[in-house]
Amino acid sequence: MVTSLYLQAVLQMRQAKGQQRYSDAKFSGGVRQLSGKHWITPEIRNKAKALVAQMTLEEKVGQMSQFDWGFHAINPDAGGEINNLMRLLIDRGWVGSLFNLSGAEEANELQRKVIENSRLRIPMITGRDVIHGYRSVFPIPLAMSSSWNPGLIEQTAAAASREAASDGIHWVFAPMIDITRDPRWGRIAESMGEDPYLGGVMADAWVRGAQLDRWSDDRRSVAGCPKHYAGYGFAEAGRDYNTVDVSDRVLREVILPPFRRAVEAGALGIMASFNELNGIPACANKYLLTTILREEWGFEGIVVSDYNALAELLVHGIAKDPKEAAELAIKAGTDMDMHSGFYFRYLPELVAEGRVDERLVDQAVERILAVKFKLGLFDNPYVDLSLKSRVILSEEHVGLARQAARESIVLLKNENGILPLSKNIRKLALIGPMMKNRRDPLGCWAPDGKEDDVVSLYDGILAKLSADQVLYAEGCGILDRSREKFDEALEAVEQADAAVIAVGESIELSGEGNSRAELDLPGEQRALVEAAVRTGKPVIVVLMSGRPLAVGWLDEQAAAILHAWHLGIQSGRAIADVLFGDNGPSGRLTVTFPRSVGQIPIYYYRKNTGRPPGGNYTSRYVDMPTKPLYPFGYGLSYTTFAYRNLKLDRTGMRLSDALTATVEVTNTGSVAGEEVVQLYVRDVAASVTQPLKRLKGFAKIRLEPGETKAVSFRITADDLAIIGASGEWAAEPGAFRLMIGPNSEEGLEADFILEE
Ligand code: BGC
Repeated sequence: MVTSLYLQAVLQMRQAKGQQRYSDAKFSGGVRQLSGKHWITPEIRNKAKALVAQMTLEEKVGQMSQFDWGFHAINPDAGGEINNLMRLLIDRGWVGSLFNLSGAEEANELQRKVIENSRLRIPMITGRDVIHGYRSVFPIPLAMSSSWNPGLIEQTAAAASREAASDGIHWVFAPMIDITRDPRWGRIAESMGEDPYLGGVMADAWVRGAQLDRWSDDRRSVAGCPKHYAGYGFAEAGRDYNTVDVSDRVLREVILPPFRRAVEAGALGIMASFNELNGIPACANKYLLTTILREEWGFEGIVVSDYNALAELLVHGIAKDPKEAAELAIKAGTDMDMHSGFYFRYLPELVAEGRVDERLVDQAVERILAVKFKLGLFDNPYVDLSLKSRVILSEEHVGLARQAARESIVLLKNENGILPLSKNIRKLALIGPMMKNRRDPLGCWAPDGKEDDVVSLYDGILAKLSADQVLYAEGCGILDRSREKFDEALEAVEQADAAVIAVGESIELSGEGNSRAELDLPGEQRALVEAAVRTGKPVIVVLMSGRPLAVGWLDEQAAAILHAWHLGIQSGRAIADVLFGDNGPSGRLTVTFPRSVGQIPIYYYRKNTGRPPGGNYTSRYVDMPTKPLYPFGYGLSYTTFAYRNLKLDRTGMRLSDALTATVEVTNTGSVAGEEVVQLYVRDVAASVTQPLKRLKGFAKIRLEPGETKAVSFRITADDLAIIGASGEWAAEPGAFRLMIGPNSEEGLEADFILEE
């Protein structure tokens, strides 16, 4: 027990230190203060309490246990002990939650069994990873965040929940709101990029959409589960699951804001991550799960561990045995144990020995039951089997998938306005391994997506052109090491007026566990593009990947580059819409594209240092620029925009005032287009060094050719708040600079003073 006592002491010291130094108490960080609204009403809380009072300890710890049903359905002989435990809990009606069921029929069947076997007729809550759509697969979240359109995020989250609910799912393990600055990390695909403010806006929209299904005809709501709390995106070297060691300042300023907004939006669940955070794995981290989440933010929902993460407490080297892992996790604030079975096996003993106070168990069960009451599961535990045929892949959802895909596309380069292409083009060569690909556009973590539902880019283009206008040849596979199919593809390029080459990453190169050390195009794809460029024909590259790629060579060689990520079922239609100008590109990057892996981590939210990049003995590289390939916020249109007349309604602002900054944006080109107007602020001299820019507002506007719109942003002290030397979030009086522009590197600037 020496180790455990020591760890407890360290934990307590850390918490005391954390509490003393930093607090979110006064923070509204550019967002509303915690509303104080109780998502779990006193009435629900009382019902849950009354039920807990009637439960045996076994019944309680059963509620705190969640199992991966699907894994055992597919591998009935695997994981013997855990499989037996799961089945025992189902047979007794004790199981709190199952996930990965095969659909509505199975969900009803298992639910019936659980309720009928349960002495108190307690339903289970079923979960699934519904990350970017259910059967109607939307773009990967990193792509969707590039839309800078929270309304669209809300709608896609709602559509995904609606489909999932119609197939018997009550709890979606989404949104994934890990901020990350490392494109080597495969799960960047599931994230909403590098910025805490934008991540917060998207988290808010996603939770509201996923949980509040206004359009559903069965009125069933679904719980969300923002994840992975916290710090998972800061894995060292971009290697998934790796150590995370960040200051409390970075934790609170950069990593936590999206989670805080998700809680404020009423998230009913939170998933504690796999990683350690400053020495304590998240599931055992009381500072994260109790001090911040419950005490500072007032979170009322369920904290569930990530998959088998309690068992990983032993591997991390923080628990000497499974029993201690269960003890650490419950004492930290983990309510539900995903798939290790440790809670069920060890909590009763821990309670009997006096190591765990039964009141902690009661509290966790109360929260779990409260969410079940909130979702209406006691009154309405079964799903109407006729629902899914009306909901899944409905016309509305497919239309939304096309819109979401279109708005996710980012135009990175467009030399001499080669795009949009004319539909009257004589011959267009269509080449590359992503051209006819219907599998990889589904993206990572789309377990319910079907290749057959995907429109390939080839089919999307053929819906715009006639068959005799195109010449197709694959050229090479994604990972191929052979160039034997190059000749056929190059011949097609030679015969055409221009070529569209679709290249990128397969699903397996991004997502969980799939970190990369190199960020160029895999296989022979680079050689294929370079050979096509050497023909002298204009080459338009469509990049489809789950992450930013470091492709400076491509920027030098291609005539045009469209970043099309992994866009989901309507991928081909959406890309063709943009290629031929039926819709202009309007996406803007939410993550910085590096020139080289050696620049990582690279992000716009950087500080000046004492020696900003310049000549000798400055913060630079001798062999490469410090600037990224494409900055955060960047993206082109088919038209051009001019920013003029930035005006502030005052140059001095008091803490209690608001300041309005207005800029005029004009469409100076000849076609209509959408622009994302971005506001950044800088505290010029603060008690703690500050980033040169922090995003604090944005507006997506549409302008007809020649049209001008005035765009205004209201700035309050909340937007200027930082964690200063005092450790509190507060705006510090003094000089500020703001910038409004089309991306994080360009814009008009203005200064003002914040007075006491
Ligand atoms: C992932 C989570 C996911 C869980 C359940 C884990 O491996 O990290 O994001 O929700 O599995 O499938």
